[in-house]
Amino acid sequence: MKRLLSALLAAGVLFAPAYATAQSAEPSAVEGTAQEAAPAASGETTATDEHAAEAHTPHYPLEKPEMLSWSFAGPFGKWDIGQLQRGLKVYREVCASCHAMDLVAFRNLEALGYSDAQVRAIAAEYTITDGPDSSGDMFERPGIPTDRFPSPYPNDQAAAASNGGAVPPDFSLIAKARAVERGFPNFVFDIFTQYAASGPDYIHGLLTGYGREVPEHIEIQPGTHYNPFFIAGPALAMAQPISEGQVTYDDGAPETVEQYSRDISAFLMWAAEPHLVKRKATGFVVMIFLVLFAGLMYAVKRRVWASTPH
Ligand code: HEC
Repeated sequence: MKRLLSALLAAGVLFAPAYATAQSAEPSAVEGTAQEAAPAASGETTATDEHAAEAHTPHYPLEKPEMLSWSFAGPFGKWDIGQLQRGLKVYREVCASCHAMDLVAFRNLEALGYSDAQVRAIAAEYTITDGPDSSGDMFERPGIPTDRFPSPYPNDQAAAASNGGAVPPDFSLIAKARAVERGFPNFVFDIFTQYAASGPDYIHGLLTGYGREVPEHIEIQPGTHYNPFFIAGPALAMAQPISEGQVTYDDGAPETVEQYSRDISAFLMWAAEPHLVKRKATGFVVMIFLVLFAGLMYAVKRRVWASTPH
């Protein structure tokens, strides 16, 4: 009896708030005066209104990014060094004027096939604020290989002031920091297909997602730019950063927004996880070892228990 009572009490506690919200929502849904209307009719109105409200409740991003095939995807993934070099070029010539890469040092670029002299030349293009010197003042000097890709702004406030109130995020980990919700059943399949390129797919989608017509029911705040691939709203403070032919490629790759977006996305994946290829190679060897070791253990077990009757 006691149990039944407490179960009833729990049910009451659980459902009372839901009932109260439904009650309070009803008057607005049926416009107050129509409260005495037939219950069936009022129920119908509420249902359609709820449906309409659901249709207008936006779920971001408005469009899911396309799944591209990346050279580094899958258990045998490898970097496409040419692509990474092109991505670096896009970053240096376009994105670096707003986005820093505070965890990537110039000397890390040796992994992309640049010689020490080339790395020094790239580093020297940047001005680094260093100090304080012996008189306590900060001073500026050209970059050296151990410096990191600096922010073009002295601080976040300055960055926000020049970008309509939004700070351009640091690029060091951006490819790992953004991932679009995959939804059921995709996230189950992802476990088996080892899909881990959500970040680069997102960045590619974002960069190629500008210039579309704004749907009627969507309101764009002044100073922001519509992009259905943006993860946090219908529009973002960054205008389309790159256009056709803006960066010259010297390896014959097409100079299109599509290609630029792929290259910068791959480059940002490398920046976020430079040891990705090595990690996968090590993982593969470990799996082979574990299989052999399991076989060995089984053989040992058979030998150890061979003379024990059972
Ligand atoms: C004129 C400055 C400027 C340039 C140049 C620029 N960006 Fe941005 N970027 C911004 C700002 C500002 C934001 C923050 C937008 C926001 O949160 O509304 C941003 C945000 C982003 C984001 C994060 C979006 C998110 O999900 O939060 C990515 C990715 C990005 N930029 C990529 C790029 C790439 C790639 C380039 C170079 C091709 C580039 N940007 C060039 C200003 C810039």
